[in-house]
Amino acid sequence: MNKKTIWITGGSTGIGKALAIKFANEGWNVAISARRESLLNEISDKYENISSFPLDVTDKDKCKEVFNNIKVKFNEIDVCFFSTGTWDPKKEKDIDVQQMEEVFKVNFFGTVNTIKAVEKYFKDKKDGIITIVSSIAGYRGLPNSTGYGPSKSALNNLAESLYFDFKRSNVRICLVSPGFIKTPMTDKNDFKMPFLKTPEYAAEQIFDGLINKSIFEIHFPKPLTLTLKLLSFLPSKIYFGLVGRLTKYQKNN
Ligand SMILES: NC(=O)c1ccc[n+]([C@@H]2O[C@H](COP(=O)([O-])OP(=O)(O)OC[C@H]3O[C@@H](n4cnc5c(N)ncnc54)[C@H](OP(=O)(O)O)[C@@H]3O)[C@@H](O)[C@H]2O)c1
Repeated sequence: MNKKTIWITGGSTGIGKALAIKFANEGWNVAISARRESLLNEISDKYENISSFPLDVTDKDKCKEVFNNIKVKFNEIDVCFFSTGTWDPKKEKDIDVQQMEEVFKVNFFGTVNTIKAVEKYFKDKKDGIITIVSSIAGYRGLPNSTGYGPSKSALNNLAESLYFDFKRSNVRICLVSPGFIKTPMTDKNDFKMPFLKTPEYAAEQIFDGLINKSIFEIHFPKPLTLTLKLLSFLPSKIYFGLVGRLTKYQKNN
């Protein structure tokens, strides 16, 4: 039987890297992309079924070119996992328009660029999974999250919209909403992160959700995500009061 293949963006560190290793250990071919070629090569040197395809997802044409190169190498692609993201907590406290544009360029449009690169392939193939990595920060507004949260909210809406469009072609759109995972991204946080988990834990949850289940949203860890989901159903007045107290948000923060 031919090995199955997954393309992972954001594969140089954190969740993407851990997931690449998980799929490689499960016997899949894995194509990893990110900007830092040296980090990608360190991983592909260690695992013979992981291959490195450097990419900056803000470059639309390069996304198409890289996907074509992956197709040439592996012929069939079964799963795409688009996990590229950026977050700078220091710049999220004010309305910094340039920073917000930058965050949307990577988190939202970077993901759109990669989905666009694979759209025709999957619609013609009429099979496969396209995964969009969002966040619990996309459920509802949180304090000090002027760019990141809105970019993830936009991804949630996009994933639901694409769900309908791709379902007609028998392609599964999957949304991943991690809670706090210890990665270079969250190492920058200066607040206490409840239910903090490892990237390896995230990779197990994602692998299980993608391969063993047919759910739309993979979210974890459940004690955190289910609480936030419950909060998101509340009227704004109660939501603001509770979340304000939970995050110790002060008006003059
Ligand atoms: N960690 C958490 O607690 C958490 C929670 C919720 C959601 N998430 C989401 O999970 C995803 C992975 O995050 P992580 O925690 O694993 O963080 P991370 O370790 O910082 O990974 C981010 C990845 O994105 C890549 N990247 C950034 N900008 C890029 C660009 N322009 N083009 C190509 N690749 C780019 C980075 O590689 P290069 O710098 O080499 O390009 C890196 O591989 C993100 O979408 C994040 O928002 C994380």
